[in-house]
Amino acid sequence: MEREKKPRRPRKKPTEQGLFPETPKKVLVTGASGFVGTRIVAELLQRGFQVVALARRLSQSSSEPGVIRVAADVTLSGWERWVEGCSAVIHLVGIIREDPRQGITFHGAHVEATARVVEVCKKFGIFRLVHMSAVGADPQSPIPYHRTKGQAEELVRASGLAWTIFRPSVIFGPGDGFTTTLTGVIRRAPLVPVFGDGSYPLQPVAVEEVAEAFVASLENPQAVEQIVELGGPEVLSYRQVLQRIASSLGKKRLFVPIPLPLVRPAVKIAAWLLSNPPITPDELAMLLAGSTADIRVAQKLFDLPRKNFRGVSWSEAWQQPRQASG
Ligand SMILES: NC(=O)c1ccc[n+]([C@@H]2O[C@H](COP(=O)([O-])OP(=O)(O)OC[C@H]3O[C@@H](n4cnc5c(N)ncnc54)[C@H](OP(=O)(O)O)[C@@H]3O)[C@@H](O)[C@H]2O)c1
Repeated sequence: MEREKKPRRPRKKPTEQGLFPETPKKVLVTGASGFVGTRIVAELLQRGFQVVALARRLSQSSSEPGVIRVAADVTLSGWERWVEGCSAVIHLVGIIREDPRQGITFHGAHVEATARVVEVCKKFGIFRLVHMSAVGADPQSPIPYHRTKGQAEELVRASGLAWTIFRPSVIFGPGDGFTTTLTGVIRRAPLVPVFGDGSYPLQPVAVEEVAEAFVASLENPQAVEQIVELGGPEVLSYRQVLQRIASSLGKKRLFVPIPLPLVRPAVKIAAWLLSNPPITPDELAMLLAGSTADIRVAQKLFDLPRKNFRGVSWSEAWQQPRQASG
């Protein structure tokens, strides 16, 4: 049984003695096996950090120099001792879809998980916390994903730790959930349905730039107590995103607007009938709400963004399987 520890006094403010006074530079990453986590772990290793990579399911067989793998649910106990010797925690755990039958809820994955991470950081004297949120995070939002992301942000801001919060718009790159699905539809179907008129704005940001910003923030005292929104250099409508993907694939497609009064009930029924529907009512609400970022802080602190959405080779991206740090 783990010995009860007294909360340690946080170290001096990072601006006074540098963010990484110790060597080796070691960071615990929650959600390390996911789409974003895999890229952040790779970026950390490239920049000379050691990594403790945490997720619930990790393959025990694979090993990579500089990475310790910890298979644990961040909302439960049992993983805390792995933060010992770390200089920072990057907290990425989050879900886009609930699965209440499996006990997976937005509140658990966003609010409870973040409360636990903050508690563990304080208990072990880890003062630097870099937290993954999302554009639209707002504790008052009617959309549960945004509401619980907003509640998690409140916990981080009240933690007394040296925090940075990142709020990306939709993130693109090989293995992403959003464009991979759209690419699959556009490849197969000559007629592509569009929810409503498809005018809702998005600001897709490249996953490698998200990873770059997270890792750069660790050692940048100016990033402490900043909320950094991340988006690409251009705002595109959903329809333009579809058109870009189709033209990159060399496919001529007819985009067919489906009126929202038809889409909404159809999406509700699909969610009720199917265990894994193509889109849930919450995801539709988020899409229709749009997702654009105020990128001024990212430009100032990290000289980002640089990469346009059209820069992606979609055929290559679609064929490349998701890399798993686990
Ligand atoms: N992708 C985007 O466009 C986007 C945009 C804005 C913000 N975000 C945010 O970025 C974060 C990462 O997104 P992603 O696209 O990389 O998601 P992802 O591919 O689904 O990865 C989620 C990661 O979290 C782990 N995880 C989930 N629940 C956990 C738990 N209770 N304990 C420990 N690990 C857990 C998953 O592994 P296991 O399932 O094996 O535990 C996985 O490693 C999320 O917070 C998301 O809200 C993403």
